[in-house]
Amino acid sequence: MKALVLSGGKGTRLRPITHTSAKQLVPVANKPILFYGLEAISRSGIKDVGIIVGETKNEIKAAVGNGSKFGIKVTYIEQEAPLGLAHAVKISRDFMKNDEFVMYLGDNLIRDGIKTFVDEFKKKKPNAQILLAKVPNPQQFGVAELKGDRVMRLVEKPKQPKSDLALVGVYMFDKNIFEAVNNIKPSWRNELEITDAIQYMVTKKFVVTPHIITGWWKDTGKLEDMLEANRIILDTLKSENKGTIKDSEIDEKVVIQKGAQINNSTVRGPVIIGENCKILNSYIGPFTSVYFNTIIENSEIEHSIVLENSKVSDVKRITDSLIGQNVEVLKSGKKPHAFRIMVGDSSRVEIV
Ligand code: TTP
Repeated sequence: MKALVLSGGKGTRLRPITHTSAKQLVPVANKPILFYGLEAISRSGIKDVGIIVGETKNEIKAAVGNGSKFGIKVTYIEQEAPLGLAHAVKISRDFMKNDEFVMYLGDNLIRDGIKTFVDEFKKKKPNAQILLAKVPNPQQFGVAELKGDRVMRLVEKPKQPKSDLALVGVYMFDKNIFEAVNNIKPSWRNELEITDAIQYMVTKKFVVTPHIITGWWKDTGKLEDMLEANRIILDTLKSENKGTIKDSEIDEKVVIQKGAQINNSTVRGPVIIGENCKILNSYIGPFTSVYFNTIIENSEIEHSIVLENSKVSDVKRITDSLIGQNVEVLKSGKKPHAFRIMVGDSSRVEIV
């Protein structure tokens, strides 16, 4: 059995971060999202993993390498453009040969991993198995209608949903999925849709079964979801200190990574402060992750993710934010009192 991890895509919902880097590598609790998926695949016993890469291929390859650090063997499959999830399956044919595989969306996080799901597929041997979760707002998802232990219909973002079971970003297929992806047509957004491919299988009377999960899962394609995933994972961390703390108040559930310095500050967990960060005269509030080499001084920040090599200085207070790499957020003493900003394309700044 193999795995196919999708790590290409456009990432329009996370611009401007995705103008310059891969959304799958944005860290949640200081670990790239993609790594959680690769670890879950490895834990399920699958070792042969194809990763679909697009424009950000160099960055993904540099971060994941040959997969040995996850106990897997990685083969990269280049997608010429983000032409859809089913297109990604189509171009993986040579890698898959006739093997069964799990397809995992590289920006998804699933608390309980995928082992139970994989084991059930191996045991029952349907042609496809889809992972579903109950959601309060099915209108915003691909939704599955079931009859007993069979999937009868898939509907993309239904206006009047007949089911509240949304498709989660993990699917399992046998080789018959290739017949499906070769027979469907691109949708209105010019993508080969995986829901169409699965619907093809249902219509052609292949056995498509559901697996309903009860633990949390997150598609981190949007800022709010990424912050929520960060919050949930931070909450599971145990305190640890590998840095230096001086004249500071450090709460429960605070992880301070190697070389970080905390001076004259208050850190209220759950928080993770990355390698070689400097936190000076500042307040770091709950649910904040600061990646490596970042400086926060004379500032207050909470419920946020700050990436590497950035600087936040004399700012009160930042909340619910994602700050990219090599960013400076500062207070300037210059008159008149005004906001002076240089913000990239497709950014969002909220001023209260
Ligand atoms: P999506 O989040 O559905 O699409 P996207 O990355 O293009 O983002 P947005 O909707 O914000 O523009 O993709 C889910 C995952 O699959 C994500 O990790 C990117 C990946 N993907 C591919 O690898 N190839 C593709 O053709 C598509 C559409 C997505």
